[in-house]
Formats: sequence, C-alpha cells, structure tokens
Amino acid sequence: MDILKRTKIVEVLKREDFGTFVNVKGWVRTRRGSKQVNFIALNDGSTINNVQIVVDVDLFGEEALKAITTGACISVNGVLVESQGKGQRAEIQAKEIEILGEADATTFPLQKKGHTLEFLREIAHLRPRTNTFGAVLRVRHHLAYAIHKYFNDRGYFYLHTPIITASDAEGAGAMFQVTTLDLDKLPRNAEGKIDYDQDFFGKSANLTVSGQLEGELGAMALGSVYTFGPTFRAENSNTPRHLAEFWMIEPEVAFNEIGDNMDLAEDFLKYLITYALENCADDLAFLNEMYDKELVERLKFVTENDFVRLPYTEGVKILEASGHKFEFPVFWGADLQSEHERYLVEKHFKKPVILTDYPKDIKAFYMKLNEDGKTVRAMDVLFPKIGEIIGGSQREENYEKLFERMEQMHVPTKEMSWYLDTRRFGSAPHAGFGLGFERLVLFVTGMTNIRDVIPFPRTPKNCEF
Ligand code: 4AD
Ligand code: MG
Repeated sequence: MDILKRTKIVEVLKREDFGTFVNVKGWVRTRRGSKQVNFIALNDGSTINNVQIVVDVDLFGEEALKAITTGACISVNGVLVESQGKGQRAEIQAKEIEILGEADATTFPLQKKGHTLEFLREIAHLRPRTNTFGAVLRVRHHLAYAIHKYFNDRGYFYLHTPIITASDAEGAGAMFQVTTLDLDKLPRNAEGKIDYDQDFFGKSANLTVSGQLEGELGAMALGSVYTFGPTFRAENSNTPRHLAEFWMIEPEVAFNEIGDNMDLAEDFLKYLITYALENCADDLAFLNEMYDKELVERLKFVTENDFVRLPYTEGVKILEASGHKFEFPVFWGADLQSEHERYLVEKHFKKPVILTDYPKDIKAFYMKLNEDGKTVRAMDVLFPKIGEIIGGSQREENYEKLFERMEQMHVPTKEMSWYLDTRRFGSAPHAGFGLGFERLVLFVTGMTNIRDVIPFPRTPKNCEF
C-alpha cells in the first residue's frame, strides 16, 4: 500500500476537499451490501461517528472482503467523496484495503446487535470499542481536561499528594493496607502484635482515602491548590455509586470560608457541565438518544439555575414533614442516605441542593465547629440521580479546638503533629471540598451505574483486567 499519512476520522468527516486521496485506519463496525458494492462503517475512536467506506466488490473480490468482519482492523486508501446519504458529508471510495488485524466472527464477543451493560462489564477489555463506552470515555477525558483548565485559569496549583499514606484522613477506617511483610510469617513484637518496624516504611501504611490533609499543607503555602488523583476505600458497599478505587478532585483554598466554598463548588460544577455540553455534543446526543431522553435538558437546567443552599436541620424538617416512606429513618443526627438526599433534590426542590451545617458527630474531625457547639461547617452538594456529588467543609483553624476534637474522636494527635503544625504556625481560615470524579461522569453521561464510567472498575470481589 502506498504510504499516505493517516487522517483521523473526526477530521475526515469535516473535510470538503472532495477528490483528494486519504488514508484512514480503524475498526470495522459493520459491513453490508450487495454483489456489486459493499459499505463498511469504520470507527477509529476519534469520534462517535463512523466514516462510510464504499467498496467496489469487483475491485477486491468477494472472497477477500469476507475477512472484513465486525471488529477487524483495517487501513484504507481511497478518495474522499461527497456522501450520497443524509447526515454525513464525506465518505471514502476505497482504492486499497489492508487488513491489519482480523477478528474471527465466531469468537469476537461484540457483534452488531446491542449488548447489555452487564454483559459489557464482563468484557471490559473490549467494551471501549462500543459506541457507548467510546462516548463515555471521551466525555471522561474532556471533563478531566476541563478540571485542570478551570483551576489553571484561576491561579490554582496542582498539588500531587501521596497515594501511600500512614494517616486516615476521613477516619472512616475503611482503608487498604500496603505492606511488604510476608503474610504467612508475620513478625511479632514483644506484646505479640504485628511488628511494623520490620515493614517497608517501618510503620503501618495504607492507600489514601483523600488528599485533603496534605492539600491543606499546600494551601497554607501556595494559597489555592487542588489535587486530582486516585483514592481508595475498602468499604463493602456494593452500590451503583461506590467504587473501591475512584478519582477525586480536591481544591483547598486559604482564606476561603464556607460561603466562598459553596460559591466555588457551584461555579466549578456549572463550568464543567457547560464545558461538556460545548465540547462533547455528539457523544452527549448519542447518550441522550440511547439511554436518557432528558439528559441534555437536565444538564442545561443545572447550569442555568441557582443551587438551593439549606442547613441540614431545615433539610431534616422537610424530610420529616414529607410523609414519604423512607427505607432508613430520618431524625436530627441521622446520616442522610441517598434516598433522603434524592428526595430533597428530585421531589422537593427539583434543583441541586447544598446542604450545610451538619451535626458534628456524623462528620470528620477537621471541620470547623459552629457557635452552637453542635454543628460543623460542612457542605454536601446533592445532585439529581446521584445524591452526594461533593463533600466539603470549612476547616477548623483554631489549634486548641482542633486538638480537642481529635482527642474526642480518637485521631492520633502525635502521629498527626505535622497536620496540627499548620494551626500552630500562621494558621488561617481555609476551606475545600472533594468532587467524586466518577459521580460527575455519571451525571454528565446519564449512565446509571458507576462501573460504567471508569475503564476498569474495582468493586468488592472484582479486580479483573
Ligand atoms: O465526602 P467525602 O468522603 O469527602 C472527603 O474525602 C473530603 N476529604 C473531601 C474534602 O473536603 N477535600 O468524598 C468526597 C466525594 C463524595 O462526595 C463522592 O462524590 C466521592 O468523593 N466518593 C466516592 N465516589 C465513588 N466511590 C466511593 N466509594 C466514594 N466515596 C466518596
Ligand atoms: Mg461525604
């Protein structure tokens, strides 16, 4: 085959210089046609749209074309021509076709007919080749890019916080341990306990559940920082919203108080959704058509309306007065479940809600105590279909109050002296939050299971690929 520089299909479909020679490479979605002419729908992942390859059967021979089955990878040299059909402008009249990789039709699991999302989860190594996962993964990419762009444009610095850590930021106690000790021959100390002196770090270590605590150290020097990295939680919650390995974005800003934190969260989310609407129009149109006819409308609605800001205490009153039968009880002090959050958002306000000032006993040790002594300056952003998408707070900047709270909640103050140091040396009000990246991708794509918005999901009893 002549050497011709490859053009991506996304570019080919925009071109109007009909009559020029082009080369495209990609995976065959379908081949159909008659004894005279075949049509190959070719996709290279650069866009949801396929380019149509028009093949003169006599030129190649019926036998040779049989190897061009769904899933095969081919390289095509041909002439760009104006499409006869509706929709797309350009198609390619094939002159030379090279098969780069065949895909045996009897064993290739992805066939023309649609597959269930459950089935596709079992073949997650091949599902990126489907329209659905191509769309989701492209949207995921654009959102990740938009996150960096948002913060960069506003003078925030990307801080790389550690993935292996010895502290438990959320105090949730659901961490994955990291060790090089031989589990069959664990060394014991004089008290009969595991001797972590002999472990790799000379102490017990875990995978991080959040970059926040180190993020705070960064904010106290650089002013405005954000983290964007993988986080790990060993909670055994097999729900459509939880992963054992997920990505989190955590801005942390010196001198911000809870109101600024809410403003930032709302502006950030609206920016990201707007960015997706503007930059992922084809993929969102496909997802809207296939899975959720109200998707684009819902995304626009969220960008165009103010979020409701409501204290937890008021939220609980609304839930109690609703007369709605919830699976889990609601009362002041209860940790709200996703059914409660979604009731407030979808039934009561019909808008995203930022719930604030939660009882201190259901929130982490680092949140700033309110004057009432009972609630903390926490904020959770609740979204339709998702429930909690963001969790954050203003931080306790007073050394004595923070120390006391840590003692009460059995957070080891000695091991965490580095964290307390921020409050000993040049303490300042500061606030931040964590956005669950997959929950954002869920919302933007309209998918309903978090396993379908990350390439290779990790959940209890599932660590394939
Ligand atoms: O509310 P969380 O636990 O907050 C923190 O970790 C704070 N340190 C954040 C901060 O203030 N810097 O988690 C933040 C968000 C949640 O709102 C949710 O979107 C997501 O992370 N999240 C999960 N996403 C997927 N799977 C899980 N198991 C998740 N747990 C939390
Ligand atoms: Mg939370």
